[in-house]
Amino acid sequence: MASIVLKRTNQKMPLVGFGLWKVNNDTCADTVFNAIKAGYRLFDGAGDYGNEKEAGEGIKRAIEKGLVKREDLFITSKLWNTFHSKEHVKQLAKYQLDLWGLDYFDLFLIHFPISLAYVDPAHRFPPGWTGDDDKVHLQNSPFQETWVAMESLVDEGLAKNIGVSNITGALLVDVFRYARYEPQVTQIELHPYLTQEPYLELAKTLGIAVTAYSSFGAQGWVELGMDKNATSLMEHNTVAQVASKYGKTPAQVLLRWATQRGLAVIPKSNSEARLVENLDCVDFNLEESDIKSISSLNINLRLNNPVEIDPRLGIFA
Ligand SMILES: NC(=O)c1ccc[n+]([C@@H]2O[C@H](COP(=O)([O-])OP(=O)(O)OC[C@H]3O[C@@H](n4cnc5c(N)ncnc54)[C@H](OP(=O)(O)O)[C@@H]3O)[C@@H](O)[C@H]2O)c1
Repeated sequence: MASIVLKRTNQKMPLVGFGLWKVNNDTCADTVFNAIKAGYRLFDGAGDYGNEKEAGEGIKRAIEKGLVKREDLFITSKLWNTFHSKEHVKQLAKYQLDLWGLDYFDLFLIHFPISLAYVDPAHRFPPGWTGDDDKVHLQNSPFQETWVAMESLVDEGLAKNIGVSNITGALLVDVFRYARYEPQVTQIELHPYLTQEPYLELAKTLGIAVTAYSSFGAQGWVELGMDKNATSLMEHNTVAQVASKYGKTPAQVLLRWATQRGLAVIPKSNSEARLVENLDCVDFNLEESDIKSISSLNINLRLNNPVEIDPRLGIFA
């Protein structure tokens, strides 16, 4: 399986994984089991997705049936914004590991560089963006405090690798100034409408692996009514023409546009046929001119921007 070797641990992170956001709770265990059967080894979860328990059940079934061993899998999860203070990071990592039924994560990411007021998981989990009063409550945990607490997860064997998500170059550079363990992965929104070339250059320079999320652009946001009326990338002429040239589907072309440049992808699908189709995106090569023509679709369209929830959350300003 195509993979990226992560710095520090030399662990192999599969280039193509399965994204768990919006995977329905009632079908999640079956979907994860079927995805493992289809060949997926990386699962990208998060406390915020609210389906870690069900994902863990799918994994347990696959291990019991002898399809895989734990060490064959690469399980990613993420720390939510309400748990950024140093006393909550380990509590939540353990809480989430219990949900999965695992004793370590292969990768644990800080989901957003945003610290919100603590919500006791016994009260509500996942807590989401707002308190019981439907308002956003900020908390004063600086990013460094959270990162140092993440490092202790590595020391204690709860996470093999740690990383960041939704952080810009300025903050990434800053983390490298104090990190005892440098972030090994940065997970960012990246698709032909948001190509982020300067960020990729920086990540390369720092030796940090990049995982691209929302590879299908607005497609994943349609089901939430948050697609910003963007033209579907799947139906875009440029993508469709490249797809027919190679005898591949638009989805496979969009994923190959990323994986051919060494970016990991984590497409999500609730359909067994489509998850099989998505995994099959590394065995052909696009010509450089086709990569360029897809990249030229860039319009800096950011679909995941917390400033739309509250103006104080303008992390990409
Ligand atoms: N770090 C972060 O803040 C962050 C944010 C967003 C996402 N993520 C991660 O990235 C993953 C993927 O991103 P995403 O959920 O935004 O969406 P995505 O994978 O770009 O797109 C998913 C959408 O595309 C459809 N689809 C999947 N495969 C298809 C195919 N072969 N042909 C046609 N349609 C297809 C899916 O529908 P069906 O399900 O019906 O197939 C779904 O509507 C998430 O699950 C999550 O793990 C991380």
